[in-house]
Amino acid sequence: MRLVGCGSALPVASIANDALSARVDTSDEWIRSRTGIGARRVAGPGETVTTLATDAARASLDHAGWEPGDVDLILLATSSPDDLFGTAPRVQAALGARKAVAFDLTAACSGFLFALITAAQYIRGGTFQRVLVIGADQLSRWVDWDDRRTCVLFGDGAGAVAVQADSGGPDDLLGFRMRSDGSRNACLTLAQTEEHRPLIGELSSQTGGFAPIHMNGQEVYKFAVREVPAVLAEVLEGCGITAADLDWLLLHQANQRILDAVAERFSVPAERVLSNLAAYGNTSAATIPLMLDEAVRDGRIQPGQRIASSGFGAGLSWGGALLRWSGPAH
Ligand code: ACO
Repeated sequence: MRLVGCGSALPVASIANDALSARVDTSDEWIRSRTGIGARRVAGPGETVTTLATDAARASLDHAGWEPGDVDLILLATSSPDDLFGTAPRVQAALGARKAVAFDLTAACSGFLFALITAAQYIRGGTFQRVLVIGADQLSRWVDWDDRRTCVLFGDGAGAVAVQADSGGPDDLLGFRMRSDGSRNACLTLAQTEEHRPLIGELSSQTGGFAPIHMNGQEVYKFAVREVPAVLAEVLEGCGITAADLDWLLLHQANQRILDAVAERFSVPAERVLSNLAAYGNTSAATIPLMLDEAVRDGRIQPGQRIASSGFGAGLSWGGALLRWSGPAH
């Protein structure tokens, strides 16, 4: 498989740290020093997971030089769908990708990486030739905007990559590992509420609805700085390369301190660690393709370069992958 295109989309409205302190007891200094975040985008009227995902997907199609009718599969990684029955088909319709099968995949902040690895299996198995992998989230719907421990962290956005079968050239997914540990699920949840309404006689039925994001920040931090280096070390070892051979470290953008800790563990210099946390915060499944798109468009990531990537978060779930960026053939 080859990574041949990328794209991204962001809501128009940006909320800086200082503006947030009008809502909760916080400060730019606290947020920046603990997380590296300076602002986040928040979807307004007319902006949804569907519109953001569609705009990102369209940009990746254009970048790859594909037509919508070329796409065989659309995988949408999201934890904040517009429709619990699936948002990917709405994206398929909006793109006009009529022959594509489209479905959602949920693995929180690991979602994009898991979806990319899933796409690779379909391509390597010969089922599909052209796949759009999208990460899109609108967690502003699900944070408690009065909880300063979580509301400062998250933002909305979408990113996408175009992945193509290519039996002739080198494979752009050089290696990967995926992990889940549901025993630590309570660390970070966006869970169904426990409300029941009377149904018939003694019977009741559960009311649909979700409680806002709940997070044990210190446990999530400890999880990330322990598991991300471990899974990446396994990936690199499996590929027979060392961190010195990497061009870029492209981690899920959760917290600058996590990026710094992982980079230090592998002795990767700061200039090779990609970060856009300051502008966008944690956009969940969108962070990795959003960052990839930014660095490809501004010329930092060049064709043929090797990128170590890791997604990690709720589930708990995490994974690592060694990628190569091919870019468009044209
Ligand atoms: N502004 C000001 N003060 C705050 C804020 C805030 N936004 N948030 C918390 N505080 C206060 C707390 O109330 C507490 O005060 P208290 O001692 O008077 O009660 C104090 O700061 C320390 O709180 P902690 O929660 O212990 O703060 P910590 O130093 O652990 O930093 C943080 C919190 C930044 C969330 C950190 O734990 C962290 O980065 N964790 C990882 C979280 C993460 O990355 N989550 C997402 C990854 S997974 C995914 O992407 C879905």
